[in-house]
Amino acid sequence: MSTVPSSILQLLARFGQEHVLQHWDELSTTSKSKLLKQIESIDFEIFDQLVAVSQCNANKSSENAILPSPFISVADEGIGWDDVEKAGEALVRQGKLGVLTVAGGQGTRLGWNGPKGTFPATPITGKSLFQLIAEQILFASEKYEVAIPWYIMTSVENDEITRSFLLDNNCFGLDRTDIFVFPQGVIPAVDMNGKMLLVEKDQIFMNPDGHGGVITALHRSGALEEMASRGIEHLAYVQVDNPLVKVIDPIFLGLHCSDRSSREVSSKCVMKSDPDERVGVFCKRGASTSIVEYSDMTTEQTHEKHGDNLAYCCGSIAAHLFATSFIESAASDLPWHVAHKVVPFIDSSTGEKVTPQKANAYKFERFVFDVLPLASNSIVLETERNEEFAPIKNASGHDSAETSMKLQCERATAWLQACGVEVALGATVEISPTTAASIGDLKRTTLPTQITAGEIVSL
Ligand code: UTP
Repeated sequence: MSTVPSSILQLLARFGQEHVLQHWDELSTTSKSKLLKQIESIDFEIFDQLVAVSQCNANKSSENAILPSPFISVADEGIGWDDVEKAGEALVRQGKLGVLTVAGGQGTRLGWNGPKGTFPATPITGKSLFQLIAEQILFASEKYEVAIPWYIMTSVENDEITRSFLLDNNCFGLDRTDIFVFPQGVIPAVDMNGKMLLVEKDQIFMNPDGHGGVITALHRSGALEEMASRGIEHLAYVQVDNPLVKVIDPIFLGLHCSDRSSREVSSKCVMKSDPDERVGVFCKRGASTSIVEYSDMTTEQTHEKHGDNLAYCCGSIAAHLFATSFIESAASDLPWHVAHKVVPFIDSSTGEKVTPQKANAYKFERFVFDVLPLASNSIVLETERNEEFAPIKNASGHDSAETSMKLQCERATAWLQACGVEVALGATVEISPTTAASIGDLKRTTLPTQITAGEIVSL
C-alpha cells in the first residue's frame, strides 16, 4: 500500500493530527498497514473532549461541595448480621454472583516483570495474586455448590500472557468455561499542543484507559450478555492487588440486597489510618455518593475532625458490588482524568526516539469509582482493615509485598487464635483460601494446638 486512504487523511486533518503520517514514505508495507489499522481503531469523536480536559484539567474542579459520606459498620450490633449473611449465602447458592477483577494495570510502582496478577504475594507458599482470587472462588463454589464465573479485565499488553498463565496453572482448579478474559481499551496521549505522539515511526503512543475502562469493556466484550445468560445479577468487583480482599463476602452481598429494591452499587471502606493516608475517600456530593481522590482534597478537609475522629474517615479499599442491571444501563462515558507524564517519542526533525527529562504529555484514564455518583441507590460498608486490606502497590516501603505479607500473617494468626490455637510471637503462618474463607470455616478444619516461635506453618 503506498497511498493513505482519503478518509484517513480527512479524519486526521479534521482533528489536526496529520503529523502521525510524517514518516509514511519510510515505512514498509507491513508498517503502513499497522499504522493505518491503529488510526482506524482510535475514537476520534472523544478526541476534542480529551484535549479540552488536558487544557483545563477539568476533573480537578468540583462544582458541588463535598460532605463526609454516611456508612454502616460491621461492628454495628443493632444489625442482625446473621440474617444478612444467610440472605447473602442464599444469593451465592442461587448462582446470582459473579466476580469481576480488573487486572489491566501496568503495575509501574511495583516494577514486576509481568502482569501484576502473576506476582508472588503470600509469605510462605508464594502464591500469585491471581491464585489467591481463583482459590477463593473455588472454595466458595465448592461450599455453595454453584459455579461462580470470574470475569478478568486485562490490557492489550498483558492479555496473552495472563491467559497463558491461567492455562499453564490449570486455572487453579477452576473450570475454564467459568473464566471470561477480556482486554480493556487504549487511549492516545497528547503533547502540550494537543498532538498525539509517535512512539515508533509506525505507532502512535496509546495507554490503557484506566480501571474505569471496565464499564466500556464489559459492554464491548460480550461479558454482560454472558452474565445474563447465566442469570448473574451482582458482580463482586475486586482489584488484583489486595491479597486480603474478601472476594465472596455473603455479609456484604446480603447487605447490598437487603433493601426492597436492591442496591445498584455497594462499596467497602476502612477507617483511614491517618489523615494523610493516600486512599480515595467516600464523600457525599449533593445526593450522590462519590469517591474523592486524596490528591483532590484540601489539607483542611483531610484533617477536619468530627469529635475525636476524622470527618472524612471512610477510605476506599476498591471493593464494590455492582448490580449487573446497573452496569448494563450505566453510561460508559465516565469522565477522563488527566496525568502529566513522561512519554518517549520520535523526534520529528531527527527521526530518533527521545526520552524527555520532564513530563511532556497528558495521559488519560477513567476511574471505576466514577460510576458511583450515577447510582441512585448505594451504600458504604465499613469493614475491618486488618481483615480485608493489605495492598501490594510498591516495590518497597508502605503498601509493598513486605508490609502485605506481614498483614497476611497477622490475620492468619488472629484467625488461628480465635480458633483456640496458641501462636507464639515470631511464628509465620499462612492460611490457604482453599482451607478457609473465615474463622467459621477454619473452626471446621483440623488445627494444631500450638505453633511455636520460628515455626513456619502453611494450612
Ligand atoms: P492501580 O491504580 O494501583 O494501578 O490499579 P497499577 O497499574 O496496578 O499500578 P501503578 O499505578 O502503575 O503502579 C488498581 C487496580 O486497577 C487495575 C490494576 O490492574 C489493579 O488491579 N487497573 C489499573 C486496570 O485494570 N487498568 C488500568 O488501566 C489501571
